[in-house]
Amino acid sequence: MPDWSSLLRPELADLSSYVPADPPGIHVRLDANEAPPHPSPAVREAVARAVARTPLERYPDARMRELKARISERTGAREGELLVGTGSDEVISVLLTAMARPREKAPRAVVLAPTPTFVMYRVTARAHGHHIVEVPLDARWDLDVGAMKRALEMAQPNVVFIASPNNPTGTRMSDDRVLAVLEAAPGSLVVVDEAYADFAGESVRGWRERHANLAVLRTLSKLGLAALRVGWLEADEALVREVDKARQPFNVSATSQAAAAAVLAEAWGDVMSHVDSIVRERDRVAAAAAALPGVDVAPSRANFLWLSTPRPAVEVYQALAARGVLVRSFHSSAGRLANRLRVTVGSAADNDRFLEAFAQAVSA
Ligand SMILES: Cc1ncc(COP(=O)(O)O)c(C=O)c1O
Repeated sequence: MPDWSSLLRPELADLSSYVPADPPGIHVRLDANEAPPHPSPAVREAVARAVARTPLERYPDARMRELKARISERTGAREGELLVGTGSDEVISVLLTAMARPREKAPRAVVLAPTPTFVMYRVTARAHGHHIVEVPLDARWDLDVGAMKRALEMAQPNVVFIASPNNPTGTRMSDDRVLAVLEAAPGSLVVVDEAYADFAGESVRGWRERHANLAVLRTLSKLGLAALRVGWLEADEALVREVDKARQPFNVSATSQAAAAAVLAEAWGDVMSHVDSIVRERDRVAAAAAALPGVDVAPSRANFLWLSTPRPAVEVYQALAARGVLVRSFHSSAGRLANRLRVTVGSAADNDRFLEAFAQAVSA
C-alpha cells in the first residue's frame, strides 16, 4: 500500500471531518442553525412543482440562468456579479481555490478572519494549503479594528472573511468597524458573510458601489431551505468571471436550481414571514433565558442565541442532551468559550422544551 501521508496535504493531519453530533435520545435539535419547517404549504408546493418539471436526463444549466435571474430580482445584484454554489460552503471553497496566489516572497496565500467565527473559513483555508490568521473579537463580540488593521498590514491576506451576523456569537459587526476594515484592505477581497442577514434586517451589499473590494456571501440554508444547498457570492464582475473558472460546471443540481428559483419567484413572501416569526421567537426565548440567574444573552441579530452559563457549558450541554435537547457547545475551544452555548431558535414548542430543560440545567 502506498504511504498515503506522503501524498496527502500535510494540513489534513490536523483537521477532522465535519461530523454533526448525534447523541441518542434527542428529540429537539437546536444545534445547526436550521429554521423550523415552513408553516406555509406554498413553499413546499413551489418546490414540488419545480422538481416535477425538471428533465432528469439532462445535466443542469451550467450557467444557472434562471436561478441567477431570480436571485438578481430579489437582491438587486447583477447576474454577472453572482457566483452560485452548493451552499455557501462550496462558494467559500471555489473562492479559495481561485484566490490562491501567494504575495511576492510569501510562501502561501493568506486568509484572515476574526475568532470565534464560522469554522469553515479556517477548515477550507487549511485544506487548500492557505495560511489562516485569526484575530479575536473584542469583549462584546464585535470586530477589534486595531488588531484587524495590524493583522492586515502584517499578513497581507488575499481574502478576509467577516461573518455578520456572526456565528456563533449572533452579533452583527458594527458598520463603522466593517468600513474601517474595508478601507484598510484595498488590496484584499473582504467577504462579508451575511448567512443570517435576513434575521437582522440589514445588509452591507449597498456599499459595493463604493467599495470594489467588498463581496457579500448569502445562503438559503438558514431560511428553512437547507436541504436545497444553494448559496451565492455577490462580487465585482471581473473577479467573478475569473473565480467562476474554478467552479465545477454542474455544481448545483438541476432540482436544486429549479426549486430555489421557484421559491424565490413564487413563495418569497412566505419565506420572509417565516423569518419574521423566527425573529419574534428569538426575542421571546432571549428574554426568558436572560431572566435566569447567572445567564447572559449576547444581543442576537441571527436565528440563534449565544448564552453564557453559570457553570461549565459542557455540563449544561450534557444535562440538556440527557433531557433530549441538542444544542452546540464550544467547550473544547476553552477560554472565553468554555461557558457559552449556541442555541438555535426552533418552533415555539421546541423553544419551550429548551427553556424548561435549560432552567433546570443551569440551576442544578
Ligand atoms: C456564517 C455562516 N456562513 C455560511 C454557512 C454555511 O451555509 P451553507 O449551508 O450555505 O453552506 C453557515 C452555516 O452554519 C454559517 O453560519
